[in-house]
Amino acid sequence: MNKITIIGGGNLGKSIIYGLANSDLFEAKNITVVDKSKHNLEEVAEKFGVSTSQDIVTSIKQVKWVILCVQPRQLNAVLQEITDIVTNDQILISTVTGTSMAEINEVVPNNTVIRVMPNTGAAKRLSMTCISASEDAREELDFVEKMFNTIGKTLVIEERLMQAATVLGASGIAFFLRFLRAMIQGGIQMGFHPHEAQIIAVQTAIGAATLVAENDTHPEREIDKVTTPQGCTIEGLNEMEHQGLSSSVIKGVMASYEKINTIK
Ligand SMILES: NC(=O)c1ccc[n+]([C@@H]2O[C@H](COP(=O)([O-])OP(=O)(O)OC[C@H]3O[C@@H](n4cnc5c(N)ncnc54)[C@H](OP(=O)(O)O)[C@@H]3O)[C@@H](O)[C@H]2O)c1
Repeated sequence: MNKITIIGGGNLGKSIIYGLANSDLFEAKNITVVDKSKHNLEEVAEKFGVSTSQDIVTSIKQVKWVILCVQPRQLNAVLQEITDIVTNDQILISTVTGTSMAEINEVVPNNTVIRVMPNTGAAKRLSMTCISASEDAREELDFVEKMFNTIGKTLVIEERLMQAATVLGASGIAFFLRFLRAMIQGGIQMGFHPHEAQIIAVQTAIGAATLVAENDTHPEREIDKVTTPQGCTIEGLNEMEHQGLSSSVIKGVMASYEKINTIK
C-alpha cells in the first residue's frame, strides 16, 4: 500500500510531485494528485506521469500517505471532506502554514499528523524543509524525511518551532532575495548593466552560501578570509553595520515572527 495522494497540485504541490516522481520511493502510478483545476492536473500528468483526480474521496482510498497542500483557508473544507472516510492507519502530512497537528486532529481525530514546512527552493530541489511529528510517529517520520529529501534538505524540529521555521526558511527566501536585489542595485550604480550585475551577484551569493554549507563553517570565518586589513571589504562591511544591516535583519525576522503568531 505504498501509495500517496497529494491534495492540492499548486505551486508547492507541483514541486513535491516533481521530487517524488523522480525518486524511487513511489512508482509514478502510485502517486495521485487531486486538484480543482484541470489545467494543474493535465500539467502534472503530462510532466510526471502521475495519476490525477478531481475527487478527494475516491483518491485517498487504499493510500497510506496523504499530503495536504492547500491554502490555510481551504484546509478545513478538505478535512471535513475526508474525516469520515480516512482510516486510522493513514498518515496525514500537512504543509499548511500556521495550523498545528492538534488543530488538524480536532477534525480528523484518529490519524497521525506530520507537519512539514518547505520553501520555494523545492522547485529546484533546493528546499529547506523543517519537519515535526509526535513521539509515537518515529517510523513514519523517517519515511517523510526521505520524501522531502527528494526536494532538498530536511531538519526535524519540535513543533513549537514551526512558526520560527516558517519565518527563517519560507519567508527567508524573500529576505535573501531582497538583499540580492540591493547588491544588484549597488552593482548597477558602479557601472554594470543590470543583467551583468545580476549574474555577478547571484553567482557570488551561491558561492558564499556553498562555502558555509560545504565547509560547515561559520559565516564570519569565511568573511575573515576576504577582509584584508584596511582593505575595501572591511570598509564596506563596517559601513553596512553602521547603517544597521545586522540589526535591521534581526528586527525584520522578529517582526515577521511576531506577525505570524497573530495570523489565524
Ligand atoms: N509556496 C510555498 O513556498 C510554501 C512553503 C511552505 C508551505 N506552504 C504551504 O503550502 C500550502 C500550499 O501552498 P501553494 O503555494 O502550493 O498553494 P496553491 O498554489 O494555491 O495550491 C493549492 C491548490 O490546491 C487546490 N485546492 C484547494 N482546495 C481544494 C480542494 N478542496 N480539492 C482539490 N484541490 C483543492 C487549489 O485550487 P484553487 O486555486 O482552484 O482553489 C490550488 O490549485 C499552503 O498552505 C502554504 O501555506 C507553501
